[in-house]
Amino acid sequence: MKAWQLHAFGLENLKLGSVTRPTPKPHEILIKVGAVSLNFRDKAIVDGIYEPDLVPKRLIPVSDAVGTIIQVGSKVTRFKVGDRVISHLYSHWIDGTPAPDEPAHCLGTPYPGGLAEYMILEAESAVLAPDSLTDEEASTLPIAALTAWFSLVTYGNLKAGETVVIQGTGGVSIFGLQIAHALGARVIVTTSSDAKGELARQLGANEVINYVTTPDWAAEVQKLTNGKGADQLLEVVGGDGLNDSVEATKVTGQIAVIGFLAGQTTNLNLMRVIFKQTRIQGIAVGHLRAFEEMNQAFDRYEIKPVIEKVYPFEEAVQAYEHLAKGAFGKIVIKM
Ligand SMILES: NC(=O)c1ccc[n+]([C@@H]2O[C@H](COP(=O)([O-])OP(=O)(O)OC[C@H]3O[C@@H](n4cnc5c(N)ncnc54)[C@H](OP(=O)(O)O)[C@@H]3O)[C@@H](O)[C@H]2O)c1
Repeated sequence: MKAWQLHAFGLENLKLGSVTRPTPKPHEILIKVGAVSLNFRDKAIVDGIYEPDLVPKRLIPVSDAVGTIIQVGSKVTRFKVGDRVISHLYSHWIDGTPAPDEPAHCLGTPYPGGLAEYMILEAESAVLAPDSLTDEEASTLPIAALTAWFSLVTYGNLKAGETVVIQGTGGVSIFGLQIAHALGARVIVTTSSDAKGELARQLGANEVINYVTTPDWAAEVQKLTNGKGADQLLEVVGGDGLNDSVEATKVTGQIAVIGFLAGQTTNLNLMRVIFKQTRIQGIAVGHLRAFEEMNQAFDRYEIKPVIEKVYPFEEAVQAYEHLAKGAFGKIVIKM
């Protein structure tokens, strides 16, 4: 089969070639990939800054894929040939509390990903693709959408009328905006671009703060909430900016620590966290049960993934380059 493989760290080492088509073991399924979507994680893996010790030699990258089952293992009862399914990043995390070794069972590192004609999935952790979504749309759900859902709903128990701050307009953030808006929250989006801010308003953002022209965006959030602060915040930036997020959230507010765009370590003022009794919640995407609940909610609220551009399979490198520049919503690669 045709497959993109990472031969060494660096985008110049991502090469299209030919490999043997895998055969499913008893509990696995083989899908013909329809589309994959890119996440910042995929870029960080290629760059060698995401758990580099876990990355196998000659990796087929990209965790998020949708496809049609063409072969099932001898013990598979959950699906049949012809079903259209979506991958689930934490392939052993089905429900409840995660096990300590969940990262060892992730797709696109250390397990092979979907940037190929065919892909193996474990049947227990594949998810039926909603009929209402195309392959391109369904491929955007596994990481970006579930991360936002798990933060706001599973951990955050978001209620109508609460205020949510969403940082930026990338993959996770736009899903966060759509979910929070659908559930009746007031949404404040921070962005570097007034044009993207306008698009965010069209998706339901109530307020937009340009974090370049208003560097003290946390003070602006305080102003917009009459000095109370936001109930929840999706932290995709990381680094020392976490201090701003503490200032932007209310006493006992929740910060979902998701991203590390500005850095994987932070210099945090603990006294502010202590006095504000801030709930800082680490997020690692989410479990399968939440994925299925989320898909039902997306159908109910008619949430459609926002895709900035779809690239053909042969232009995977250009898709990665686009992701590095920052997209409004998602970048997809279609087989
Ligand atoms: N923990 C998890 O489970 C999990 C899951 C998914 C993603 N992540 C992480 O979350 C982060 C975002 O992922 P993604 O896939 O959504 O990335 P993405 O699609 O590449 O989005 C990046 C966007 O972040 C915004 N941004 C950058 N610097 C910012 C800043 N200082 N303040 C506010 N916004 C800023 C920009 O928005 P504007 O152009 O509007 O300024 C940029 O377009 C990454 O670090 C990723 O690894 C973690």
